[in-house]
Order: sequence, then structure tokens, then C-alpha cells
Amino acid sequence: MVNRNQNLSEYLNNLDIESDLKKIISVISSTCYKISEAIRLSNINNLLGKTGEINIQGEQVEKLDELANNLLIKNLSETGKVFLMGSEEIESVIIPNPNNKNAEFIVVFDPLDGSSNIDVSVTIGTIFAIYKRVNSDQNDESNLLQEGNKAIAAGYTVYGSSTVMCISTKEDTSMFSFDKKGCPIITNSKIIHGNSKVYSVNESNWNKFTEKDKRWITSLKSGVNGKYTARYVGSLVADFHRNLLKGGIFSYPADPKTGIGRLRLIYECNPLSFIAKNTNGYASDGEKSILEIKPENLHQRVGFYIGNNIEMSIYKNS
Ligand code: AHG
Ligand code: MN
Ligand code: MN
Repeated sequence: MVNRNQNLSEYLNNLDIESDLKKIISVISSTCYKISEAIRLSNINNLLGKTGEINIQGEQVEKLDELANNLLIKNLSETGKVFLMGSEEIESVIIPNPNNKNAEFIVVFDPLDGSSNIDVSVTIGTIFAIYKRVNSDQNDESNLLQEGNKAIAAGYTVYGSSTVMCISTKEDTSMFSFDKKGCPIITNSKIIHGNSKVYSVNESNWNKFTEKDKRWITSLKSGVNGKYTARYVGSLVADFHRNLLKGGIFSYPADPKTGIGRLRLIYECNPLSFIAKNTNGYASDGEKSILEIKPENLHQRVGFYIGNNIEMSIYKNS
């Protein structure tokens, strides 16, 4: 039963996780609330549009990408509990300032997912995962190059028709919304993946799909496995959130010529795959589990298929 009066700190108190981790999750939550407020007021505060910079991904940086990234780095640094951070917007590892070399946690994030939707008021979000450090060298990238199955917590916040934050650990996956004062209140708990028949694919990439991908999508359209509908927001975090609650599968296949996908293993795929695993779902790169891939570099891009187990096995057997 969901206790709808429970706030995030009461929820965290009942979780069997370290107190420093609770602190980090609380700070991510309050930062997401600040990001959410900045998004709501962005049109009148001249926070829409691009900064003029190009990020490590070779993409134009939106003003809100930069704002979200800076807020997360600043607020996580000030906890004194973070050893290193990694961000989709930043080329190398991020050492907190002020620096606490004795801190144990690694936080990785996509500060704002769905940048192309910012200027048109369509759902965007923040994605994150938390790990323990593997050594005490702050210049060693291997602290961030950990398999997703080593994560100890992950989550996201969607800034949509309402703002919803999802927090996932092995123990539980729950969702929260912010009240008028910005306090996160629980709305759903013990979440398990829904099972409605939805597929989320950018089909304009059809000519780059493998024969297997084409066979799979054609079979969904044919109705042999039941009646499917298509939903594609263009913000991974929003597509995943909808599929988690209602059911479905999201896919962004790798280009078979290069084997390289669109989505980033560390900042996007691993956090959501960890949540999928904790909610009876599954994620793969088309062959193997996303969570078992050892990242080779901080900005590695992979093919991505994520959904409930039934949809994932229909894909596998296509
Ligand atoms: P980001 O805004 O963090 O760079 O990520 C955008 C990603 C993801 O959110 C979305 O699913 C995908 O790009 C959309 O790509 P297409 O426009 O090629 O469909
Ligand atoms: Mn993204
Ligand atoms: Mn992003």
C-alpha cells in the first residue's frame, strides 16, 4: 500500500541503504525540483535556446542543459559525499569542488534528456545512477567505467504535465511528485513494469535497421502478437517513463555498419536498465544485457532495447 502522506526523507529512512547515499538522493531530488522550476519559468526568464557552445557529443548546448548540469555539479559537490561525477555534457571525470577525497560515491547523469523538446514545451527529464568508487585515484576513469549491474541506485525525473521523480534500488522502485513547497511526496511504490502493447521507435531510421529489427517491427504491425500502438516522444526519459507505467518497449538500434548507437551507455542506458531490472523488465543492446557491458569510454554509445520481459522476448525471438 502506498502511504500517500510519506515524503522522500521518510521513505529513505525506511530503506536499508547507507546514510551518505540517502543524502545524495535527497540532494538530487532538491536539485531536480530547482531544475523543474527553471523549466516552468524558462520562457519568461530568457532560458530557452542555445548557449552557442558545442558539447562533447558534438551537439549544440541548450541553455537549460547548461543550467541543469551546473546545478547538479554544484549541489552534489557541496554534499561532501561524492568522490567523482560524470556528465553527458562534460568530456572527462568531474572532481567535486570543494573536494572530499574520502567520499565514496560516484554519480553519473544526463542533466537534461530530450534537448530537442525543450523549446517546444514537450516532456524532458534528468537521468542519474549512483555507484561506489573502485579505487581512490580521482584521475582514474575506471571509477566511472563500471558495469551498470554495479549501480546501487538510479532514477530519473520527468518534467512533464506533472513533475515525477522515480527512485530505484534493489529493494524498491517508487515515484514522487513535489508539493507546493517542493517537498517530494510518494505517489507510487513497488512499481513493476506495465504490460500494454506499445512500441517506441524512431522509424525514420528504417533504412539503417537490421533485417531482424525490420522483421520485429513488421510483426508488431501485423497483429500476430496482438494490437500494438506506436508512441515516440523523442525524449528517452519520457518514453521510458510511459512504458514503465503502462507497458511497452523502447528501442534505438545501433547502426549495423558501425555498431554504434545513439544513446549513451553510462548516462542514459545504464540508469534506465537498472530501473528496468528492478521492476521486472530487461534491457539489451540487441544481443546482450546492457548491465553487463563494461564501458570502454565515458561517452560510449550503444544500441538500446528496453521494456517489459514479454516485449523483450518477442524482440529476441524475432
Ligand atoms: P539528449 O537530449 O540528452 O542529447 O538525448 C536525446 C536522445 C533521447 O532522449 C531520445 O530518445 C533520442 O535522443 C532521440 O533521438 P532522435 O531525434 O534521433 O529520435
Ligand atoms: Mn539524453
Ligand atoms: Mn542530455
